Amino acid sequence: MPLSLSDLNPALLKVEYAVRGELAIKAEAYRERLQEPNHGLPFDRIITANIGNPQAKGLDQKPITFSRQVAALTEYPPLIELGRDLFPADALARAKELCAEIGSIGAYSHSQGVPFIRRNVAKFIQERDGYPSDYNNIFLTTGASEGVSLLINMLITGPKDGILIPIPQYPLYTAALAQYSGVPIPYFLDESAGWLTRPDDVENAVQKAIAEGVKPKGLVVINPGNPTGSLLKEDAIRRLIQVAEKYSLVLLADEVYQDNLHRRDTQKFYSFKKIVSDLQSSVSLVSFHSISKGVTGECGRRGGYFETHNLSPEINALIYKMRSVTLCPPLAGQIGVDSLVRPPRPGDESYELWKKETDEIHQALASRTRIMAERLNQLEGATCVDSPGALYLFPRIYLSDKACKAARAAGKEPDTFYSLALLDATGICTVSGSGFGQKEGEFHYRLTCLCEGVDDYVGKLEKFHKTFMAKYAD
Ligand SMILES: Cc1ncc(COP(=O)(O)O)c(C=O)c1O
Repeated sequence: MPLSLSDLNPALLKVEYAVRGELAIKAEAYRERLQEPNHGLPFDRIITANIGNPQAKGLDQKPITFSRQVAALTEYPPLIELGRDLFPADALARAKELCAEIGSIGAYSHSQGVPFIRRNVAKFIQERDGYPSDYNNIFLTTGASEGVSLLINMLITGPKDGILIPIPQYPLYTAALAQYSGVPIPYFLDESAGWLTRPDDVENAVQKAIAEGVKPKGLVVINPGNPTGSLLKEDAIRRLIQVAEKYSLVLLADEVYQDNLHRRDTQKFYSFKKIVSDLQSSVSLVSFHSISKGVTGECGRRGGYFETHNLSPEINALIYKMRSVTLCPPLAGQIGVDSLVRPPRPGDESYELWKKETDEIHQALASRTRIMAERLNQLEGATCVDSPGALYLFPRIYLSDKACKAARAAGKEPDTFYSLALLDATGICTVSGSGFGQKEGEFHYRLTCLCEGVDDYVGKLEKFHKTFMAKYAD
């Protein structure tokens, strides 16, 4: 008998990950069709507004030169001698130092990650927060996703264990909970207040879950948020920590967008680690970071780390054991983490270029986000929180009964129906709000702010929106 789906773990069939779902697949098919001379499509390019993958084809964010130089030199160490006149002195010195610490990057490293790189991560955290960080509590990972998935796996002991997740959320969380048969306990962010996290709502969600026989084990916070881009204020973080303490929840702080703030002169990112330390709280905390976001955008290199805080040595040892089953994260990703936490400093040969490159990325992202939010807010039947951080906007669309009926007749969620029609008409690929979760009867879609040529494609989006709304006017 050939293997059939029913022979496999049924939990996997429940996993959903909309970011790479129906819309992305259709966009890919259109992209191929566009190669044909008579493609017959009403657009000539796909606008990749569905994924936070800055260096993806079509988005083409340039990698940071310094990190790539270190990557190239550590990949092929003879270049350190051969490239004396080609590479800046600080990149050469950095590569030499890393090669001396690591040896060949073709070898497995310590399962927790190269100790030298973990020490650099600990220093970065200490400088950021003003509190010590122990490199023994740093685990380098294959991107933040791997760490999140491991922690969720560890926390879920049975089908009645749950984890609080923000709604809307990044679908990694619902996917991991489905995979490990845990219960997602939603707490809703307040869109009318700029996607605010209200600690009281979190507490109410905890109590409701308990009343329904679910045991809350963890509290996920995404700061800045995906898909909302919202940034938590210090006081909200404080109160969330208190809720976690009160109900003995492990805090899972997803801080992969900590460097993506659009109003950097007035905003400040507060890490959970800092506030937990301010409060001298004993709450268990795991904080995640990644090289995929920020200004590095090295998604394909797969590098990240998590820091555990207030976890017992036995639990850290168990995490270590589980990490060692997969041997080690890729060395290229670990070196990427080193460049993330040790960028060039003023006075270093690479500093000026690094500053120019990173400033340009921050500015472009901030200006695209602002322009798109402004224009979306002028549309009838749409509103959009002008997000202060991350890489996304999550506009709300007000769809008529007629549009909803047409969507259901086509077997689609109404916002998926809208997003598919947008893709068909303009080549703009988004992700519909149902993939992230939203309040019953509300509709959204997520738009990334990474694509150049905003004026051109927002114009197309506006035209499409007006036509769609007119077609389905009740
Ligand atoms: C909130 C959030 N967490 C984690 C990840 C995964 O990051 P990584 O590429 O480091 O696995 C993403 C990716 O988009 C994300 O948006």
